[in-house]
Amino acid sequence: MSGQLSPIDRAKFAAARRAVDFVEDGMCVGLGTGSTAAWMVRCLGEMVREEGLRITGVPTSSRTAALARQIGIPLSTLEDVKWLDLTIDGADEFDANLTLIKGGGGALLQEKIVAAASDQMIVITDVAKEVTTLGAFPLPVEVIPFGWQTTRALIEETLTGLDVMGHAVSLRMNGQEPFYTDEGNLILDLALRSIGNPRQLSLVLNQIPGVVENGLFIDICDVVIIGHGDGRVEVRDMGAGTVEQDQIDFAEGENIFRNALD
Ligand code: 5RP
Repeated sequence: MSGQLSPIDRAKFAAARRAVDFVEDGMCVGLGTGSTAAWMVRCLGEMVREEGLRITGVPTSSRTAALARQIGIPLSTLEDVKWLDLTIDGADEFDANLTLIKGGGGALLQEKIVAAASDQMIVITDVAKEVTTLGAFPLPVEVIPFGWQTTRALIEETLTGLDVMGHAVSLRMNGQEPFYTDEGNLILDLALRSIGNPRQLSLVLNQIPGVVENGLFIDICDVVIIGHGDGRVEVRDMGAGTVEQDQIDFAEGENIFRNALD
């Protein structure tokens, strides 16, 4: 069954499967958004059903909430739990400092709030997302709909004075319509190509009127788990300063693959 998955999906599953080893009984867990995070939600669902794992999940998007509900993970909200033990989420890019670009799926705002309210954030990713310099992936910026064209113009003007290579800003679309986030906002994607100073960029962007949040995650991620298509995983822990290699057995995921591919 795992043979029906693409190498990239096998890599994403491997990272997700290793990440759920960090989840302990009774934990409150932030559930990220995207295709890698979806594998993690499916793995957790199986642990809840088959092993009696008791957790409370806090989803970072309506999409993740729907999947978790369907799979049988008990859910709560950040308003109710206020603080989480752990968040596991994907990323669009990460660098050696575990600075991330997120928001490819449009959920960056809830993802950042939930991750910032967690004792630990683990990022699960395939190897292709590791970069020396962030910025090849367009940086998502969530803006309120009111006067968004003015916000875009202010962003474009601001970018000319910053250490970035590209300045093109585009409104994210969903077919013919603008893409709206779960909070009813818009996303502007910034094609920067190279971000010389992520910290400065993040601070400056968040000061522009109309900007709600940007997709740079700085000093938030503690551990990155990098999956490979052959089941190898690398666990890099920034706090502990350790790097561990592991191997995931795809045979353990057969039920998960069957349900996901149905
Ligand atoms: C959603 C995100 C995702 O984590 C990011 O886009 C990675 O997605 P995928 O796991 O599908 O590659 O930030 O807002």
